[in-house]
Amino acid sequence: MEEQCDDPSSALFLDSLYLGVRKSERHSDKVTLGLLAKPHPQSRTCCPVPSQTEPPCGLNFIDLMVRQGNIDNPPKTPLVPGFECSGIVEALGDSVKGYEIGDRVMAFVNYNAWAEVVCTPVEFVYKIPDDMSFSEAAAFPMNFVTAYMMLFEVANLREGMSVLVHSAGGGVGQAVAQLCSTIPSVTVFGTASTFKHEAIKDSVTHLFDRNADYVQEVKRISAEGVDIVLDCLCGDNTGKGLSLLKPLGTYILYGSSNMVTGETKSFFSFAKSWWQVEKVNPIKLYEENKVIAGFSLLNLLFKQGRAGLIRGVVDKLLELYNQKKIKPVVDSLWALEEVKEAMQRIHDRGNIGKLILDVEKTPTPLMANDSTETSEAGEEEEDHEGDSENKERMPFIQ
Ligand SMILES: NC(=O)c1ccc[n+]([C@@H]2O[C@H](COP(=O)([O-])OP(=O)(O)OC[C@H]3O[C@@H](n4cnc5c(N)ncnc54)[C@H](OP(=O)(O)O)[C@@H]3O)[C@@H](O)[C@H]2O)c1
Repeated sequence: MEEQCDDPSSALFLDSLYLGVRKSERHSDKVTLGLLAKPHPQSRTCCPVPSQTEPPCGLNFIDLMVRQGNIDNPPKTPLVPGFECSGIVEALGDSVKGYEIGDRVMAFVNYNAWAEVVCTPVEFVYKIPDDMSFSEAAAFPMNFVTAYMMLFEVANLREGMSVLVHSAGGGVGQAVAQLCSTIPSVTVFGTASTFKHEAIKDSVTHLFDRNADYVQEVKRISAEGVDIVLDCLCGDNTGKGLSLLKPLGTYILYGSSNMVTGETKSFFSFAKSWWQVEKVNPIKLYEENKVIAGFSLLNLLFKQGRAGLIRGVVDKLLELYNQKKIKPVVDSLWALEEVKEAMQRIHDRGNIGKLILDVEKTPTPLMANDSTETSEAGEEEEDHEGDSENKERMPFIQ
């Protein structure tokens, strides 16, 4: 599929890079996610050059939410989903400095990351290390920047602290666990579906089933509670998270996975989640010495103009990557034709780490190559507990 591209004379274009993510003809007429194709600009500086490499993009939980209409102010359909990708620079806007055609990069994109050619402002583009594969790069920015900013920019994680993270086996969850391990003596409490526990047990200190009474479990181990609660579930987990905070502890809400309960948007789940959210009383926060915060990376990037801050975070993360202290966990690679099965896998809670849409893949699910940590979750998908209600595969995109 071809991405919409702005007029080459526009200011946006002049500051933009093309990331060459060219797919073969095989794909061009098969993936029709409501795509609007527009011709590429014809000027010398902006014509994408066909590339030998056909790099991938990340599939995130938020893509499920976008598809279901579970987000505020979604763009008008038809749209191309996706917020992050990796690729090779194919063309540069006239005013772009510091990048060359052929550079290997990863990027945030405000939608359209699943297109074969992506045009994005240079402020959202980052060069990747030579030994980082494109799959790793596509799995890197969203998960690690989110995890890093919450732990270090918002909650000020320090030696000896404790962290509770939900969906510990997911993309962000695994990034949180790895970043916590870079600080001495951090205790990580995680919740996840039980079938994942064996695979992720070494990444966290204490693991609980996602259906367990985790408040009691945490208090049994640490009567005072924890220093940081990272809540991507929302609903009644907000009150539970706040109740687990030690004095001076920080609760961060960064998602609302609980709203996703079926293959389409559920107003019941939405209302239930909203209704169950603890109504916060600032006076109580003051008396109990608790901090409550929210975090949205996409808003920070695309609405609140903090790309400079995030570039600094990406630099620190790439340093940790180069020191081999962190490494993206890639769950599985999927062809674009398999996007509905890939989404279903997240929906079925089958993933450990990040799913990647790889335009070079044939439509048979393949596990990631050796250069990237992969899970065996694909083979266990049908067997794990706790998701019997989701066993039947439902068509997501028709
Ligand atoms: N605010 C931000 O800037 C930001 C950025 C990135 C992600 N997020 C949020 O962080 C969360 C994790 O994102 P991710 O992309 O890393 O995804 P992910 O954790 O890989 O998502 C899949 C996992 O979430 C868990 N889950 C919880 N509720 C679920 C539900 N209703 N349906 C299906 N799975 C559910 C499942 O694990 P278990 O069954 O093991 O619990 C599942 O395997 C999401 O809520 C996402 O919106 C926020």
